[in-house]
Amino acid sequence: MPTEHKLLIRALRGETLTRPPFWFMRQAGRYLSEYRATRTQAGSFLDLCFNPDLATEVTLQPIRRFGMDAAILFADILLIPHGLGQALDYREGEGPILEPVRSVAELAQLRMDDLHERVAPVYETVGRLASELPDNVALIGFAGAPWTVATYMVEGRGSRDHAIVKQWAYADPDGFGRLIELLVTATVEYLSRQVDAGAEAVQLFDTWAGALSETAFRRWCIEPVQQIAVQLRRKYPELPIIGFPRGVGAGYKTFAQAGAVNGIGLDWTVPLEWAAAELQGSNAEGKATLQGNLDPRLLVIGGSAMETEVRRILRILGHGPFIFNLGHGIVPETPPEHVDRLAEMLRG
Ligand code: CP3
Repeated sequence: MPTEHKLLIRALRGETLTRPPFWFMRQAGRYLSEYRATRTQAGSFLDLCFNPDLATEVTLQPIRRFGMDAAILFADILLIPHGLGQALDYREGEGPILEPVRSVAELAQLRMDDLHERVAPVYETVGRLASELPDNVALIGFAGAPWTVATYMVEGRGSRDHAIVKQWAYADPDGFGRLIELLVTATVEYLSRQVDAGAEAVQLFDTWAGALSETAFRRWCIEPVQQIAVQLRRKYPELPIIGFPRGVGAGYKTFAQAGAVNGIGLDWTVPLEWAAAELQGSNAEGKATLQGNLDPRLLVIGGSAMETEVRRILRILGHGPFIFNLGHGIVPETPPEHVDRLAEMLRG
């Protein structure tokens, strides 16, 4: 089936559908026993990301079980730093650990030259998925947005206060800007290859956008995402792009007005009536297709608490271009039966 007929793509082009398409961030992962089995078979998490057979398998697992309208490539946002030569390790129970980059001098050790070679298996996974996915399922490629990727590169791990990366960004914006510039270039390259291999839409995850003040949000989140979108559109004028600036509150309006993306992922704190009135609509009006925003905790809880909220989201956001998703990723303790029930509600 050509891309244009897939519900996800139609929604991203601005159509309001009677049944909104759905997929879930982190839909492949530890909450599924079949993922845990494949993960053990692969060895480390990075081995899994770089094994096209197994990465294809884990991407397809949730689709087989729940029939989502889109598959998201199985990979990670930190594969770009790895591709640039930064040492990266994922430790059980600790998450990612990187050799920190905290100055322009340290930045000079990273290079674009080997990027494609170092992440080549990811492109191969995209190619396989493009040929193996059912005809009605869209394939989403992704990358981290530059700010969020930079937080891990500079802090060297996940952080609560982002003190070290903010120190650099706020005190030496020109130096930090060079890291962001490198990430813009690398992200355009990386996503272009995903599109060439068969990705039909791309999402930029800006998980830590909400950590920044207003001015810094414009400079380190909106501007780089806009640059990436403009450069991708030059090559792929029809490519749908989804931005997910998590936790930015009223900043979602500024993000929408920047007009860089077709779709905007809402976190679960965003007031829905406000989002429907202010953010949802066509790109021409400085608006976008909305995607979101069930609190992943409600998917852990299930039952009527979940179902009431799902109906509220559909009632309020279902009258414009909309994709049902969560407000952030599925957590490992989620019972798969709850995902089953949610998928059943959404398939109608
Ligand atoms: O199913 C999908 O959504 C596709 C795969 C995907 C993963 N990570 C797999 C993964 C996607 C889209 C991501 C994005 C990602 N990675 C983000 C942005 C979205 C978000 O969740 O905020 C971020 C910040 C990362 C960085 C990252 N990767 C962290 C902080 C961790 C450790 C925390 C954790 O959940 O373990 C990872 C590891 C990771 N990425 C796992 C998976 C399935 C778990 C690894 C394992 O199997 O042990």
